[in-house]
Amino acid sequence: MFSFVGGTNSNNFVAVDIGYGMTKPMSAAGKKKSIYSCVADAPVDDLLGGFFRPSPNDNSDDKNDDPAYDPGYLVRIIAENENDTAISGEYLVGKAASKSPYATPVNLSPEKQPEIHDILLLSAAYLVGAGAPAKGSTAGVSNTRLAVGLPLAFYKHQRHALKSRLEALAARVQINGGEERRIDFSRVMVLPQGAGIVLVQNSLPEDGSIVLVVQAGTYTTEYILLEVKDGQPVPIEGYHNSLTTGLHLVHRAVAAEYQRLTGEPLDQARHAIITDQALKGKPIMHNGKPLDLTPTARRAAIQTGKQVANLINSRLSHMRSSITTTYVAGGAGMVFKDQLLKMLPAAELTEDPLFDDCKGYLYALQEAEMEAASAAEATLKEE
Ligand SMILES: Nc1ncnc2c1ncn2[C@@H]1O[C@H](COP(=O)(O)OP(=O)(O)OP(=O)(O)O)[C@@H](O)[C@H]1O
Ligand SMILES: [Mg+2]
Repeated sequence: MFSFVGGTNSNNFVAVDIGYGMTKPMSAAGKKKSIYSCVADAPVDDLLGGFFRPSPNDNSDDKNDDPAYDPGYLVRIIAENENDTAISGEYLVGKAASKSPYATPVNLSPEKQPEIHDILLLSAAYLVGAGAPAKGSTAGVSNTRLAVGLPLAFYKHQRHALKSRLEALAARVQINGGEERRIDFSRVMVLPQGAGIVLVQNSLPEDGSIVLVVQAGTYTTEYILLEVKDGQPVPIEGYHNSLTTGLHLVHRAVAAEYQRLTGEPLDQARHAIITDQALKGKPIMHNGKPLDLTPTARRAAIQTGKQVANLINSRLSHMRSSITTTYVAGGAGMVFKDQLLKMLPAAELTEDPLFDDCKGYLYALQEAEMEAASAAEATLKEE
C-alpha cells in the first residue's frame, strides 16, 4: 500500500494512535490492530502453571486479519534505560486486562499516565511487527520509525516532552511467549490528532474550498477547519481544537443504568467493553440473568452525537456555510454517524474511519524520511 524508503522493512514504519478508549497501531505494510486501552499487572500467582495461556507457537494473531481480533495478550517488557524501569514487568493488555482486578484504563484527563501509555505503545508496535529479534545475527537493530498523535487541545503543551520521552525509550518486548524483539525508535513524530485524515483524502475539492475534519473519540473529539491552497489543505487559524465530549458520556450513562439495575457499580475498566456490547444489542449477564442496557446505550449515543454536532457547529460560527466537505472519522465517529452526517455541513464518513488518521501519520513519516534522505544526499554531493 505505501511505498517505503531506504530498503528497510516496512513493518518498521509504524503509526500508533494511543486513544483514551482504543489503541490503534498500523504498519506501512498495512497491518492494523485495535485493542482496548487497558493494562493490568499480570497475576504473579499463576496457579494453573500456564495451562490456559496461549502457546508461543500459536500464531492465530498473525493469521487473523480482523484488526479487532484480541485473543488475550500477555506482554513482557524489559526496559533498557534506568528512567523507564517503571514499565518493566509482565502485563495483560487489551480485553484480557479489562477482566483483571488490577485493570488500569487510560484516565480521562489531559495527560495519559506515562507508564500505561508506553506499555500500550510498545505492545501495539510489536503487534504490527515492529522491532528486531532480540537474539541472532541482527540482534537489536530495530530502526523503527514511529508516528503518534496528541489531541489538538494538548498538542502544543505536550508534544516536545512526549517526543523526547519516546526517543529515549528502548525495550525488549515479548507477547504470549512469542519471539522476543527489541524496540526503539530512530525517528519519532508527534502529530496533531485528526491531521492525518486530510492527508489521505484522494479527492480534495478545488483550490479555495473550505473543508472540515471531525474525528470523534472516547474522550476527545477533534475538529480542524482547512482551506485548500495549491492542492494542499492548510488549517484556518482559530478553528481547530478538541472538545472533551465523546463516547465517555455514553459510558457514563451505561454505568449509571447498570448500577440502577443491579445495585452495584460498573468497574471503570469495563465501561468501554460493556457499552460496546450494549450498542451492538448484546445483553450483559449479571447473576445469571441478562441485563438489557441497549436502550440506554443507544439513547445516550444519539444524545451525545447531537451534542458533538451542535458544539462543533457553534464553534464554526459564520464559516459553517462555506464548507464544501466535512470528513467524519474516529471509532466514535462511527457510533455517532447518524447524527454527525445529518447535522454537520456536507458530511461524509471517511473510507476507513478508525485508521485514516494513522494512514496519514504513516504518509507524513515517509515524507519526512524521504526529505532527510535527500538532504543527506545533497550534503554528500557538496563534500
Ligand atoms: N469497527 C468498528 N465499528 C464501529 N465502532 C467501532 C469500531 N471499532 C471501534 N468502534 C467504536 O469506537 C470506540 C473507540 O473510539 P475511538 O477509537 O475513536 O476512541 P479513542 O481514539 O480511543 O478516543 P480518543 O480519541 O478520545 O483518544 C469503541 O469503543 C467502539 O465503540
Ligand atoms: Mg481517537
